Amino acid sequence: MKICVTGGMGYIGSHTVIELIKEGHEPIIVDNLVNSNPEVLNRIQKITNVKPKFYQIDVRDEEKLDDCFKQEGFDAVIHFAGLKSVGESVKKPDLYFDNNIGSSKTLLKVMKKYNVKNIIFSSSATVYGVPKHVPLVETDPVGQAANPYGQTKIEIEKILINEAKQDEKMNIVLLRYFNPVGAHESGLIGEDPNDIPNNLMPYITQVAVGRLEQLTIFGNDYPTKDGTCIRDYIHVVDLALGHLAALKAIKENWGLKIYNLGTGKGTSVLELVNAFNQANNLNIKYQYGARRAGDVVVNYANADKALNELNWKATHNIVDMCRDAYLWQKQNPQGYKK
Ligand code: NAD
Ligand code: UD1
Repeated sequence: MKICVTGGMGYIGSHTVIELIKEGHEPIIVDNLVNSNPEVLNRIQKITNVKPKFYQIDVRDEEKLDDCFKQEGFDAVIHFAGLKSVGESVKKPDLYFDNNIGSSKTLLKVMKKYNVKNIIFSSSATVYGVPKHVPLVETDPVGQAANPYGQTKIEIEKILINEAKQDEKMNIVLLRYFNPVGAHESGLIGEDPNDIPNNLMPYITQVAVGRLEQLTIFGNDYPTKDGTCIRDYIHVVDLALGHLAALKAIKENWGLKIYNLGTGKGTSVLELVNAFNQANNLNIKYQYGARRAGDVVVNYANADKALNELNWKATHNIVDMCRDAYLWQKQNPQGYKK
């Protein structure tokens, strides 16, 4: 299949492009590089021997996107493009609404014009808000967004749900990711945050290579087994393969489908740090600090629906995630900007 991959130069997009190429698909990347580096294309080529076609386009730019769709004739779209920093979204909500919701609307409009009926969208477990219970199932209600970033995910889901109601020929898959971590096993591509990382795993890997001095664990007095928060970390390659499984499952008049992509297992912050040390024979320096505002205490997926309907499940464990994340960071201490 010829697939338009918006945001395909980014962390999850680039890993998915690799798996698409491996499966014999033709991914074509549409990305404005606002949060990624052109070097990603060379790395994809190193891993797959294929340099995917790349359009440096802002998805909000209807004219350019239209030209791209006219030229390519896509079978499906995987829509990763979006801004994802929770902190930045609080400071610049309008930018987040415009970029994330605006790009999704433009994309849908152009898809309609060119009769492209299949789309997979990168949603997030953040749409559940504060969980009333765990594990989270897809039928759980969408909660209150904790920040503007989360609000954009909820809004885009609504737009796509409406679209599926209006056009029964549309096949729309909402994939709700839990906590993607790790990197391709080659260590050639991985997560490359612009500033000091907000997320746990890139913070740990940057401490491991000496870019940051020590990790602060946000809170050790939560009502969990070791007092630290619990998340469902999922290897980014498993996540990428979830998109391939969804693509394979899409059939005519499938309509709207929603799947959690997680492992179904909760891991505490302390357990992740210990696993990282064990996997890489290191001893990461850390201290306990205050709780982070807005943190959910325990969050993990019930991923049975993806297993039953997409025949997909995560196969990498926490140690794999820690090993691959560190390999990437060790080989690229400054990320793509050497
Ligand atoms: P990323 O920032 O690495 O990748 C996103 C890509 O989209 C970047 O390459 C960026 O340049 C591009 N982009 C942003 N706005 C664009 C626009 N208007 N036009 C064209 N390109 C644009 O992020 P990621 O971690 O790979 O996340 C991919 C998607 O998955 C995002 O939608 C994100 O919100 C979602 N998601 C990520 C996580 C996570 O923890 N990484 C969790 C849940 C959901
Ligand atoms: C965060 C975002 C969420 C977003 C997700 C994926 C917040 C409140 N939530 O979720 O909206 O969808 O990232 O991008 O920002 N931790 C530390 N020290 C650190 C960093 C993190 O102890 O330096 C802890 C956190 O308190 C948390 C766990 O590690 O308990 C995981 O944090 P993180 O990687 O930021 O993911 P989420 O909190 O799940």
